Amino acid sequence: MTRILELTTSVAGDASASSALADRLVRQLLDRSPGATLVRRDLARDPLPHLDAARLAALARPAAERTDADARIVAEADAVIAEVAAATDIVIAAPMYNFTAPSTLKSWFDHLARAGVTFRYTADGPRGLLHGKRAYLVTTRGGLHRGRPEDHLVPYVRTMLGFVGIDALEVVYAEGLALGTAPRDAALAAARTEIDSIATRRAA
Ligand SMILES: Cc1cc2nc3c(=O)[nH]c(=O)nc-3n(C[C@H](O)[C@H](O)[C@H](O)COP(=O)(O)O)c2cc1C
Repeated sequence: MTRILELTTSVAGDASASSALADRLVRQLLDRSPGATLVRRDLARDPLPHLDAARLAALARPAAERTDADARIVAEADAVIAEVAAATDIVIAAPMYNFTAPSTLKSWFDHLARAGVTFRYTADGPRGLLHGKRAYLVTTRGGLHRGRPEDHLVPYVRTMLGFVGIDALEVVYAEGLALGTAPRDAALAAARTEIDSIATRRAA
């Protein structure tokens, strides 16, 4: 059964292009998969805290020694991992902010990557432990950065997903959204077409 996890990260709320495109993909996946379920996390509205010394210490402490504050921290991080572990399809909406992902997405990945749980070190290097999932990244930009050295967003998301074992990633770009009405409309229309074709392929 299809179990979708949708992450949105834009601070633009209802005006967000990336959230609207991700919602379109999610709707289509739901429509095409009877019984499919959806869990949503709006990381702009409900950001995870940055990692700090207290959080790292809480996560490292043996369960029997945790304080109540530690337990709350661990539960928050465990929920992030459990949502990904349970998902078959992960849809991430990420506008480019200053050449990379919104910091809320970085913070989410900081909670997802946990040694011994979502990845482990082996003699051959780190190995991801979350398998059999498909991920989709919908990324919006004001300018044009696709495949260029300054695009630190797509390589970062690809690296982090791969690090925890999620290698199947499809990326939908909507670029040039600040370059005028016509380029914006064309980019959004192309992204919608691509999303429709991804959903059709996924259902086949
Ligand atoms: C804080 C901030 C930083 C941004 N940095 C970039 C950037 O580095 N490159 C770019 O092309 N667009 C940049 N933009 C423009 C957004 O990527 C663009 O408006 C995008 O469409 C926003 O997606 P959304 O509608 O989902 O919020 C930035 C926007 C904001 C608010």
